[in-house]
Amino acid sequence: MKLEKIVVASHNQGKIKEIRDMLSPYGIEVLSASDLNLPDVEETGTTFEENARLKADTLSAQSGVPCLADDSGLCVNALGGRPGVYSARYAPNRDFDKGMDMLLQELEESGSDDRSAYFACVLALAVPGCETKVFEGRVNGRIAEKKQGTNGFGYDPVFIPDGYDVTFGDLDKDAKNAISHRGRAFAKFIGALK
Ligand code: IMP
Repeated sequence: MKLEKIVVASHNQGKIKEIRDMLSPYGIEVLSASDLNLPDVEETGTTFEENARLKADTLSAQSGVPCLADDSGLCVNALGGRPGVYSARYAPNRDFDKGMDMLLQELEESGSDDRSAYFACVLALAVPGCETKVFEGRVNGRIAEKKQGTNGFGYDPVFIPDGYDVTFGDLDKDAKNAISHRGRAFAKFIGALK
């Protein structure tokens, strides 16, 4: 598969920056949905895969440009996998500082000692005229007792990956990308490019 340019089906600058950093060594120009004035696609699916496919298929058809969509989220086992596909909407007005406080409080109120959680990511690549491909990644870990670290975005300061005693918010971007759900899904995507 030879790709020179893709549009990423997101307006989230944190996410686009991570994706641009991961793909720049491969000479792929990464545009955002805002660069092409593409609209937000409503995430009506109930799984990461459904939402990723929906976004990639819709925007590649609208723009005629290969489209990469990522749907991802944080799944907390004691909360039945929530916020999961609703991770972005769980935080009021996308205020993740508040969202993390709500999550820590909900976990406390659940009465469960189980702090295990995972980040999941599904990437869908839709190339006009080809069948859409999906690539999945996951990182297991646990929810910290309190927010820690200022790097990254979203729920990074409350997620401690397995094998570490610091949060994603404490890790620099290369250390996070090497083990993250998105990094792992991207490794599979890049494998398919070669
Ligand atoms: P969506 O994939 O655009 O629906 O958004 C998923 C949401 O999950 C993001 O807005 C973040 O809140 C959260 N999320 C996904 N990946 C990460 C990550 O790597 N770090 C922190 N939060 C994440």
